[in-house]
Amino acid sequence: MLGKRLLHGGDYNPEQWLEYPEVLEEDLRLMKEAGVNCVTLGVFSWAMLEPREGEYDFDWLEECIDRLGKEGIQVILATPSGAMPHWLTQKYPEVMQVQADGRRNLPGKRHNFCYTSPVMRRKISSLDERLSQRFGSKENVILWHISNELGGNFSDGACHCPLCQEAFRIWLKEKYGTLERLNHAWWGRFWSHVYTDWNQIHSPAPNGEWTMTGLTLDWKRFVTWQMSSFCREEIEAVRSASSLPVTTNLMGFFKNLDYSRLKNQFDLISWDCYPYWHRSRDEVPEAVWAAAGHSMMRSMKKAPFLLMESVPSAVNWREYNPLKRPGMHMLSSLQAVAHGADSVLYFQWRKGRGAYEKFHGAVIDHLNGRETRTFREVAEVGAALPRLEPYLEGTVNRPKAAIVFDWENWWALEDTTGPRLDLDYPACIVDHFRAFWEAGIEADIIGMEDSLAGYQLVSAPLNYMYRGDYGDRVRQFVEEGGIYVTTCFSGCVDESDLCFTGHHPLEDVLGLVPEEIDAPSEDFANSFIYGEKEYPAQRLCAVVHPKPGARVLAAYEKDFYAGSPAVLENKRGKGMAYFLAAISNLDFLRAFYRDVFRQAGLTNALGIDLPYGVTVTERLLQEENDNAGMGGDAGMGGKAGMRGKAGEGQSLVFVMNFRHDPAELSGIGQWRDVLSGQVFQDVLPMDKLSCRVLERVTAQYC
Ligand code: GLA
Ligand code: ZN
Repeated sequence: MLGKRLLHGGDYNPEQWLEYPEVLEEDLRLMKEAGVNCVTLGVFSWAMLEPREGEYDFDWLEECIDRLGKEGIQVILATPSGAMPHWLTQKYPEVMQVQADGRRNLPGKRHNFCYTSPVMRRKISSLDERLSQRFGSKENVILWHISNELGGNFSDGACHCPLCQEAFRIWLKEKYGTLERLNHAWWGRFWSHVYTDWNQIHSPAPNGEWTMTGLTLDWKRFVTWQMSSFCREEIEAVRSASSLPVTTNLMGFFKNLDYSRLKNQFDLISWDCYPYWHRSRDEVPEAVWAAAGHSMMRSMKKAPFLLMESVPSAVNWREYNPLKRPGMHMLSSLQAVAHGADSVLYFQWRKGRGAYEKFHGAVIDHLNGRETRTFREVAEVGAALPRLEPYLEGTVNRPKAAIVFDWENWWALEDTTGPRLDLDYPACIVDHFRAFWEAGIEADIIGMEDSLAGYQLVSAPLNYMYRGDYGDRVRQFVEEGGIYVTTCFSGCVDESDLCFTGHHPLEDVLGLVPEEIDAPSEDFANSFIYGEKEYPAQRLCAVVHPKPGARVLAAYEKDFYAGSPAVLENKRGKGMAYFLAAISNLDFLRAFYRDVFRQAGLTNALGIDLPYGVTVTERLLQEENDNAGMGGDAGMGGKAGMRGKAGEGQSLVFVMNFRHDPAELSGIGQWRDVLSGQVFQDVLPMDKLSCRVLERVTAQYC
């Protein structure tokens, strides 16, 4: 934890209310009442911090930070590059992004600066340095928040201006050295796309080149690299007079930036999570999506993360925006904590009166001050979190299973014109993750370059690209006893999107020889029998031949490939590999993973089968070296954790019911609910939309 607290609070934009001191006074009073201990300031404050070029006005911010400090409220201080002031765009048009088709943006909106522009970098750095000098060692400022939702503006989040084009070419020169090498990697002889001059290279564009997947892949890599370099300059600036840790708010499954590389800039991972609760009565799909996002954030540094933004009621940017039903706010907030968050922070504290987000949910509404259901439910979260602090200090989830989700794989898979054009990689990942979630088996979500050591089970659906030594590391993982699951359309290309030739790189491990892949229409959908049940084989059906020794667990039922393996098992060394030749459905994934979990010896923390809509996860003491990536004061190192209750050998188990009706779990043994103090023996009743936080009962409670 940052300090010893679970942070509770969120974005606070007091500059909208400077002429209303009574509002600011009320804010402080109500923050105390709501159990707020941390706010994020300055996210979009550039125009107020530097009203005219080179003229700075930080007094209002200092006053605000000091007043908050007096009330014991901590501050996350943002750099304001998320939105540019008009004086800047008017005087220096180069700071405005150019879209892929070559049109330069007009002023306004946000998240739309050119991250190459030297002017932009210079201007924001001088502001950041001054913020650092003035606030970088204030007692109640605890963390720097760089910019906001980087890359979140247009479809590819990138700037295609001449400065960015030039930077791209320099990046390519560094990477390839010669045009011959670049032409080979991009397979340029096809369609006469051979480059003979670096200046011929242009970013992918709808009205230009978008068909060359080597180019599109490298462009996306470059965008992440250049965004990282922009962040690095901002980080250097805020660090010029401050040693506070640094974060930025990520967005989970966000395609435009490769977070697995961007993360290295930051001491601490944080993200903004806005599930579409109540889209339907079945909340499970959203709960699974949110859980996968939280798990991905935690897996980035295998450490607790911050829930930087969430909404206390409803957002305003979906076509329709359901209010959180009673109970959902506590449940969704504790869900984040359950998966490793050390905070529950909101966008935002108080609703503004005008402009784009005036109807976006906030803790304080336009009317009625504290007399609202939202306020009461926020205050309940504010009261619950401190009660969890002593148990959670030094803890994190430490799953024995991981799912591989890799950005470059995402880009390559979805950009390629392959057997289907409608592949949705994150949706496929979340489908697999759902089978884990429903069984209450926590999974890390890791990239292809992350270590597989320490996991008993690794699943890599639609793992189209094998980069670097990935294949070798999978082989070693299985030989040493790991269980590896993968699917059709995996191991097709290398890091340049060039197809492997001759052999599939993991033929020996998977025990198969691939031949062809069908993307059948609905009329030609196939099926297979797994266990006793028939499941569909649809969308993608690989036709592979088992190698000697491999066991066919299910075979296609129909068509010319009837009898060829749909589910294949291959023992290799001390471990096992599974190949799912076809895309099937959730029922199949549930049945399949149930068997795999059993084989891997993975059970959930309660050791029981869970009813639909109920899941469970566990935070336990972090290992000493788990936390390698953390810097500054942000580290919740194992040592600190030793002092917490968890250090006494305890862990906290979160049981969550996402159903709109109560549930009852039986056969659970003895547990104590640390929020209510109740002790449960064998039977655990769960209210609708609720979470219990349990510790195992040892003798003293019996
Ligand atoms: C994002 C932004 C916030 C706000 C919220 C609204 O997360 O970072 O500034 O606009 O969306 O949901
Ligand atoms: Zn640019």
